[in-house]
Amino acid sequence: MTDSTTASLSGRVAIVTGGARGIGAAIARSLLSDGATVAITGLADDRERAATLTKSLPADAAGRLSFIQSDVGEYADCERTAAEVLAARGSIDILVNNAGITQDKTIRKMSTDQWHAVIRVNLTGPFFMTKAVFGQMLEQKRGRIVNMSSVVGLAGNFGQANYAASKAGLLGLTKTTALEGAASNVTANAVAPGFVGTDMVAAMPPAAVEAAIKSTPVKRLAEPDEIARVVRFLVDDRSGYLTGAVVSVNGGWYM
Ligand code: NAI
Repeated sequence: MTDSTTASLSGRVAIVTGGARGIGAAIARSLLSDGATVAITGLADDRERAATLTKSLPADAAGRLSFIQSDVGEYADCERTAAEVLAARGSIDILVNNAGITQDKTIRKMSTDQWHAVIRVNLTGPFFMTKAVFGQMLEQKRGRIVNMSSVVGLAGNFGQANYAASKAGLLGLTKTTALEGAASNVTANAVAPGFVGTDMVAAMPPAAVEAAIKSTPVKRLAEPDEIARVVRFLVDDRSGYLTGAVVSVNGGWYM
């Protein structure tokens, strides 16, 4: 008898926030290729990117992908997103809280607006999206939630007080979600990537990217797919005993 690591995601419905590019797009592709129906969310700029992503997919997968313009920092947007997906697809089985931003400055130079902006998207956003889908997941006694944290949430990082605090805060949210979902087969886990080759890292000064690669034992950036495959495992039907965990995918940068 063969036993594959993961079961098909056929019939499962997923929401991936910030799914039009980078890590989120890699996650969306992976879930789609295993049969899931996927709604990606994003800001106005992401609509075009979502269209490009859709065009790059095989027709069958493209038909299972939709884009919803929705700001994770606005609770009304999160509620509308959940309601639209439920109405169109009948359930929400998987939530990947992936959308995130940076606004780096040392604490002395960081404005209070920069603090609030990053906390709003990276920490309040995942709470809002979780709150919007959680009741339905508890009632259907099936759900998989993954929060995209960061190695920086574990280790801290010079010039990233807002980002590091948001990503550390996500770990508390993840563990509490895991406790509140456990009796209803709703799991919650966090993934903590190291430096990944996306637009977010491309926006860093080249010297900082070089330094990140140098200080990473595997001596390269991660590919978005290397993060997506961990998410794919966590959202599997067979991963019901895996909850409240923080999975590091950082090339050995922090152990
Ligand atoms: P990215 O910047 O390439 O993509 C983020 C996506 O989220 C974009 O499409 C953006 O428009 C969208 N987004 C931004 N604000 C939003 C909002 N308020 N509502 C909805 N969507 C919004 O980022 P990347 O690199 O793919 O990162 C994805 C996640 O992984 C983020 O949470 C990031 O903090 C985290 N991460 C990234 C690492 C990296 O090295 N790239 C390392 C560790 C964690």
